[in-house]
Amino acid sequence: MRQAGRYLPEYREIRERVGGFLDVCYTPELAAEVTLQPIRRYGFDAAILFSDILLVPHALGREVEFRTEVGPVLEPLREDGVAKLSQDGIEERLEAVYAAARVVKRELPSEVALIGFAGAPWTVAAYMIEGRGGTDFANVIRWAWQAPASFGVLIDILTGATVRHLSAQIFAGAEAVQLFDSWAGIAAEPLFRYWCLDPAREIVARLNDLHPGVPVIGFPRAAGANLIAYARETGIACLGLDTSVPLDWAARELQPYVAVQGSLDPILLAAGGAALQVEARRICAELAGGPHVFNLGHGIRKETPPEHVQQLLEAVRGDSSSRLEV
Ligand code: CP3
Repeated sequence: MRQAGRYLPEYREIRERVGGFLDVCYTPELAAEVTLQPIRRYGFDAAILFSDILLVPHALGREVEFRTEVGPVLEPLREDGVAKLSQDGIEERLEAVYAAARVVKRELPSEVALIGFAGAPWTVAAYMIEGRGGTDFANVIRWAWQAPASFGVLIDILTGATVRHLSAQIFAGAEAVQLFDSWAGIAAEPLFRYWCLDPAREIVARLNDLHPGVPVIGFPRAAGANLIAYARETGIACLGLDTSVPLDWAARELQPYVAVQGSLDPILLAAGGAALQVEARRICAELAGGPHVFNLGHGIRKETPPEHVQQLLEAVRGDSSSRLEV
């Protein structure tokens, strides 16, 4: 998860040279290069395409900016803006993403999988309505309760756009796709079902129809006990666990239905030391009774020393022969 990014000096070098984050996303050679950087350095088993979940609202015609020290800033969406959102031509507007995927696919060793991704409709809607992260998302929650009809139109548009965007990434070479519902945890139970679970089920069903056998990974972050329904009812192949999920519970309630990944706290990875090794091994042991992909519980932090990532890989793999030639 978020393998590329600000903790790697080779990424920071490109960012400083190029300037804008979106410029990296929309230049296929650069997006491909920063996707490959962590694979070259560490030899992970999979690469995640360098892009961002907010390219979809951008392609739907919304203003999106990435400000240094602030993060993403969008022009806040109001009810009267929904009718103006257009899915027409989103594949053309996002062509640079698919071009990047094709370059990565060509360059990656055949044993390294390429993972594509998109934001889930609820999380993308939350950023579109709120205009930025770091808020309590009161505007999205209020809209979802007060005007479910217009909110449903917005979610339907995002569901359609997500299927198209993920499908195009698969055509371009992605071998699995991940749906990031980073703000699923703010959706109270009925909202979770309507606006997180149901859209995920529809996205998975449509992708499975178009691309049989391509696994869809779901990450409804901080969904708590709602993970049970998400694992059993959406048709996802693999579920991302945030740092709060008890692993014995995940082994009992989730792993009989889906593969799991995640859990390790990115703050612990940044801290390093003996606790990191112990925790990595504990996660592997707790989840050894079912399908498990080792991963973090959320994105890697920019203050993470790159050598901690190497130490983590060695703890998980039990050796240091993990570097690949790319
Ligand atoms: O490994 C990768 O880097 C893969 C690509 C990737 C990025 N964003 C690149 C990125 C992925 C998978 C994402 C997903 C994403 N983007 C999510 C879902 C996962 C999660 O974190 O919950 C969300 C919510 C976003 C929206 C977003 N993009 C935010 C909130 C930020 C700012 C983060 C911060 O801490 O300031 C971004 C920027 C972003 N996306 C960066 C990267 C590498 C940092 C950009 C930079 O400063 O160079």
